[in-house]
Amino acid sequence: MPRYVRVGEVPPKRHIQFRKPDGSLYAEQVFGTKGFSGINSILYHANVPTQVSEYRAIGDLRPEMAPDEPLRHHHLKTWPMPASGDAVSGRVPLMLNEDVSLSLCRPVEAMGYFYKNADGDDLIFVHEGTGTLQTMFGSIAYHEGDYLIVPRGTIYRLLPDSGEQRMLVIEAPSAIETPKRYRNEYGQLLEHAPYYERDIRVPGAAEYHNETAEHEVRIKARGRLTAYYYDFHPLDVVGWDGYLYPWALNIADFEPITGSIHQPPPTHQTFEAHNFVVCSFVPRMLDYHPLAVPIPYNHSNLESDEMLYYVNDKFGSRKGIEKGSVTLHPSGIPHGPQPGAVEASLGAKRTEELAVMVDTFRPLRFTRAALNYEDANYPFSWKQRS
Ligand SMILES: [Fe+2]
Repeated sequence: MPRYVRVGEVPPKRHIQFRKPDGSLYAEQVFGTKGFSGINSILYHANVPTQVSEYRAIGDLRPEMAPDEPLRHHHLKTWPMPASGDAVSGRVPLMLNEDVSLSLCRPVEAMGYFYKNADGDDLIFVHEGTGTLQTMFGSIAYHEGDYLIVPRGTIYRLLPDSGEQRMLVIEAPSAIETPKRYRNEYGQLLEHAPYYERDIRVPGAAEYHNETAEHEVRIKARGRLTAYYYDFHPLDVVGWDGYLYPWALNIADFEPITGSIHQPPPTHQTFEAHNFVVCSFVPRMLDYHPLAVPIPYNHSNLESDEMLYYVNDKFGSRKGIEKGSVTLHPSGIPHGPQPGAVEASLGAKRTEELAVMVDTFRPLRFTRAALNYEDANYPFSWKQRS
């Protein structure tokens, strides 16, 4: 996130002696991307972050993939997916490629450990539930509609409140960022951007736990999970500053861009990463030209697979969509409004749709778990029924 933030106590200059009240030194850590060329933050730990006492392999995280299938459109009805596990172990991958993986999570257990995704950034969309994203940079309270962006390498856990929790988890080996075209040369979001720095929430206070009990951090790296054990609390940062940290944006703070005729999907773009984008379809005024067709035309998304996650069931161009539905419209075959949808939309002034879209430039492949939720009739849902 290209904006300087400073939280807690830091010394007046980097790389100088910084002492605890007892006179011993804090351990400085430069936490950065792209070697020393990307954005970074500098953290000050009570303990030396390299002091691991034990580690052990937990297992392979790569999901079982579905067999190759003919090219077709997909609809998954995921609302009945059983809740299981915690906010990390409960993640069920549905589809992935080399650039991104998409999972759903309905946690029921508390995380008794911390987690670090060393393979990439996590973007967690909170469909249902409230709680706390607790990280080594500090905590961010979360609620429905939040996008939580957790940079690669961040030690964190999710502390859900009681009640239903439902999340869409987008993982990427590349940085998940604000769209470049919405930033000026200094990184500030421009006037035509659909959200502003003021909408972005960052940790407000340092998370300083100076405890000497064993703690576990499960690290995802190279598709495998390894448990690391430390004799201290891994969230022991007295202060930090820099440009790299977790942040949150609520989908309700995404201000839709509307027009007199249909606006294309890039106007809904919220984030970008290597070879994919994330878009937010939010309640908005519909196209106001007197002859406007206010829902999408048929389109061939050549060189792009389109995954849509439906937060509610009010998607104007599509019938049979439920809360929690997921559609995948792959590259190579057109999709568009379903029978009667164009006529039904004429003259409509508003839509209440709420959905998250991930468009990938390389094909997505299904996991075997995704097949449990498949609506097999979906490829024929555009056919007129007499
Ligand atoms: Fe589309």
